[in-house]
Amino acid sequence: MTVLALETSCDDTCAAVVEEDGRTLANVISSQRAHERFGGVVPEIASRHHLELVNAIVDEALDGAGVTLEQIDLVAATQGPGLVGALLVGLSTAKALAAPRELPFAAVDHLQGHVAANFLADGEAFEPPFLCLIASGGHTLLAHVTAYDGFDVLGRTLDDAAGEAFDKGARMLGLGYPGGAALERLAAGGDPQAFAFPGSTRERARGGRGAGGRAFAQSLDFSFAGLKTALLYKLRELSQAEADSRSADLAASYQAAILDTLIARAEQALEQTGMQRLALGGGVAANGELRRRLAGIGATLHIPAPALCTDNAAMIASAARFGERLPYPRYLGLDAYATGERPR
Ligand code: KG4
Ligand code: ZN
Repeated sequence: MTVLALETSCDDTCAAVVEEDGRTLANVISSQRAHERFGGVVPEIASRHHLELVNAIVDEALDGAGVTLEQIDLVAATQGPGLVGALLVGLSTAKALAAPRELPFAAVDHLQGHVAANFLADGEAFEPPFLCLIASGGHTLLAHVTAYDGFDVLGRTLDDAAGEAFDKGARMLGLGYPGGAALERLAAGGDPQAFAFPGSTRERARGGRGAGGRAFAQSLDFSFAGLKTALLYKLRELSQAEADSRSADLAASYQAAILDTLIARAEQALEQTGMQRLALGGGVAANGELRRRLAGIGATLHIPAPALCTDNAAMIASAARFGERLPYPRYLGLDAYATGERPR
């Protein structure tokens, strides 16, 4: 069985061809650069770009895989959560590819896709059960993965996503958008202990109340909004010259606060569930410092290749292999969903 999948939930136009055994034949990702000058994703612009790009991206994936549409057995697309206008482009295109051929269809949950990136055979497939920390610009989630087709949510962010915290911090420090990688580079030359930001181990050692100023005794939820505000106030307190000369220390301390929160929750979740296997997903998984630190926590760690951690369609195809398949024409009326739980 050969799966063609589309993913257009945010600002990446993606198509992939994946075999039933989890081999990726093609994984094409076109990241829209049009949002950079706005400092964030503009939904309407994202939809329009998806519309312009999607057919060419599908063709490129089929060509790259060396297959034609006639050789596709299952078509899949991300149904949600994400930007509805953006999702609709991928979903409608996928339906239009499947319907004339009367192919079955898989409507995939984006987060299930991030989890299913771990099931692809290109690296070493990671089998359930495991814990999965998904940290991207749009979501921060701790999932307890006990099967190939679902997971339980142990914790999620109450406000900003971890990648969003990186991006907002980067913006305040005058770095571009998206700023996670740039902030990591700046942080490399700084002292993570220089400033005690909320959520950091240093802040907690001083008796601080944890991320976002709230006390989470056993909660596995995340909060990053307080951290962002703390950086803003710190920058207001410093003169421009001080902020400039200490920008690496600010970046390192800010990054440490995000990573301390992520790692503390992951460790707590491993302890609470008695699991010893941890997988990562989402763009923040590209962070070298996070990878280095997680390597030391004593669990078996699985991190998909960077192109499979950030948004991509191979992960959607991977999830489609294990999820529900709707026969033609039952999928024609499917709608996209923006947030929260998938409608039943
Ligand atoms: O998974 P992704 O490509 O898209 C979303 O679904 O959001 O994640 C993008 C996020 C951005 O917030 C970006 O700043 C962050 O991942 N990111 C990083 C790094 N590389 C990308 N954050 C921290 N360190 C990095 N090296
Ligand atoms: Zn994502």
